[in-house]
Amino acid sequence: MAGYEPIETASIDELRTLQTERLQSTLHNAYANIAHYTRAFDAAGVHPDDVTSLDDLARLPFLVKDDLREAYPFGMFAVPREDLVRVHASSGTTGKPTVVGYTAADIDTWATVMARSLFAAGGRPGDLLHNAYGYGLFTGGLGAHYGGEKLGCTVVPFGGGQTERQIQLITDFEPRLITVTPSYCLNLIEEMERLGIDPAATSLQVGIFGAEPWTEGMRTEIEERLGIDAVDIYGLSEVIGPGVAQECVETKDGLTIWEDHFYPEIIDPETGDVLPDGEEGELVITSLTKQALPVIRYRTRDITTLLPGTARTMRRLARITGRSDDMLIIRGVNVYPSQIEAELMQVDGLSAHYQLHKGTDGTMATLTVMVEALDPAADRAALAAQARERIKTMIGVTATVEVVEPFAVPRSQGKAQRVV
Ligand code: DLL
Repeated sequence: MAGYEPIETASIDELRTLQTERLQSTLHNAYANIAHYTRAFDAAGVHPDDVTSLDDLARLPFLVKDDLREAYPFGMFAVPREDLVRVHASSGTTGKPTVVGYTAADIDTWATVMARSLFAAGGRPGDLLHNAYGYGLFTGGLGAHYGGEKLGCTVVPFGGGQTERQIQLITDFEPRLITVTPSYCLNLIEEMERLGIDPAATSLQVGIFGAEPWTEGMRTEIEERLGIDAVDIYGLSEVIGPGVAQECVETKDGLTIWEDHFYPEIIDPETGDVLPDGEEGELVITSLTKQALPVIRYRTRDITTLLPGTARTMRRLARITGRSDDMLIIRGVNVYPSQIEAELMQVDGLSAHYQLHKGTDGTMATLTVMVEALDPAADRAALAAQARERIKTMIGVTATVEVVEPFAVPRSQGKAQRVV
């Protein structure tokens, strides 16, 4: 199927030529205008003129979140602060927040990749879009908003929270599309059921879910209960916000990365070596068109695999397993929260609401999985035993599973906190 823009289905040769040109101008912009890059490239002994192909990218140093923090608040921009039309910032649970900024042209690029994403998800001009991503410093709300408007949708700028009112507007306005985190969507579905509204009977047809890891099991659950197509969207503020990669509704086979704007590499997170396509590792992104905040080899910490294009020429990212920061090491075994989620979703009688509690028994790290039973009268000990067994055989980790009553796990209002 043709995309929102012709470049999505251009030939690989055309794409690589465009990427190479754009890479060169990005490197020159960064080197000339941002002190961090001048220093970092000089220290690595590489000048932008030395980078003549996409493979040469590997000669350049990585950019990490701490580099952005050190430049707090406005030290990483290639343009004077007066030329920014907007900033966003991360919540910054540890240390200073990370500030990102956009010129008017950057905002337009972002709206365009986001419009492309909504189109790939099945959105069309004229659709009504209920946007439940949070507005404010978080990029989710405004990112989806501008993309929706650019595509020609009628956007309802709801944001997060006020669940009952959201449901009222969904019932009355009859949106076809919803943009929301998967965990908050579950919250919406439950609340509809509590209010006696059949979630599968709403006007919603497509949901665009991201901002946190989720699983195929969660997709099935949401699709069945809400009666929609559920597709994955990826992005991060440092790179632009939502709309870096989007799953196409016709294939539902991972996220097409909009490579004409964001050049992907996968590296071994330990050694930093670039891995061939098809191998799992940490995603590294180089922006190719951003003006204010070009990122060169930004280490996202997100774990995924680069796959060949299917619905589009551009490559796909496999569903993000999780962030390397969220990886738990339980008796020597590496575990991501999403792997636990995948197993829990396989046990009949457990809900999709769970939290992982990290602990220690003196010397060893321990893991307690708190998960809700669907039925208050269920045999919780039996459910716990089943879940423990699955986690042990499928992941190789011994966890304590506590099956708790419905509604005992805190509900998400946006990004769920999975690890406590
Ligand atoms: O979460 C941007 C966004 C908003 C993406 C709405 C999609 C939808 P940040 O707050 O900077 O930006 O967080 C970025 O969230 O590095 C991933 O770890 C995680 N993440 C985002 N999308 C996905 C996804 C937004 N589809 C961080 N699957 C990223 C898994 C995701 N993790």
